[in-house]
Amino acid sequence: MGTAQEDFAAVDTYLIDHLVHEDQALADTRRSSAETATPGIDVTQSMGAFLGLLVQITGARRVLEFGTLAGYSSIWMARAMDDDGAVVTLDIDPAAAQVARRNFHAAGVAERVQVRVGPALESAEALIQEQAEPFDLVFIDADKVKTPHYLEASLELSHPGTVIVIDNVVRSGAVLEQDSTDPDIQGIRALMELIQADERLSATALQTVGLKGWDGFLLARVN
Ligand code: SAH
Ligand code: DHB
Ligand code: MG
Repeated sequence: MGTAQEDFAAVDTYLIDHLVHEDQALADTRRSSAETATPGIDVTQSMGAFLGLLVQITGARRVLEFGTLAGYSSIWMARAMDDDGAVVTLDIDPAAAQVARRNFHAAGVAERVQVRVGPALESAEALIQEQAEPFDLVFIDADKVKTPHYLEASLELSHPGTVIVIDNVVRSGAVLEQDSTDPDIQGIRALMELIQADERLSATALQTVGLKGWDGFLLARVN
């Protein structure tokens, strides 16, 4: 056995090898995050498969995603949907959006995935203005500082039963740092307080360890 992190990564790799099938398009998508401003911050293969399973289990037909990067998580969710399904994914970075669109074509999901470029809060507000059909599942994985605002907007784009998943809520335990000067940590802490006080949601959060260290995701359902 090595360090704890080496062990977490080795077990993640073992589980992925046995349980998660990644085709060439997904593998290429993961590699192509190197062409974006923030390489490697996509979800792991295990988490990608988890998101796909959630879409299938819930029968989600409409998925909203905050934070596209190269499209890795979008592809897992889009592939888990029926042909009439739709993913709307929001990213501020036009270069990332271009990489993602290429990946959506290669993965065979281009017709099912729409990328909207711009600050995610503005794009979400535009969806609210357009009276977009409510989403069945929302994955929040963009800049952490605005996560509470993304949640508020998501609630306006939801129906009772909508599932909301929020990535990176543990951050190697940094979420406990009350006086953190990191705006991302303050964003996550504000998110927790919002949900604590909000009767519109039933929620939990699970910690994760693996290839991308120690983190966690929050899972909520709109009541
Ligand atoms: N969900 C992706 C990873 C997203 S990484 C996956 O798992 O494959 C986070 C993304 O959020 C980056 O691509 C970044 O450009 C985007 N982002 C950061 N700030 C943003 C903002 N204000 N509005 C929209 N997107 C933003
Ligand atoms: C960061 C963002 C993510 O969505 C993630 O999964 C890991 C790291 C980041 O901004 O550092
Ligand atoms: Mg993330």
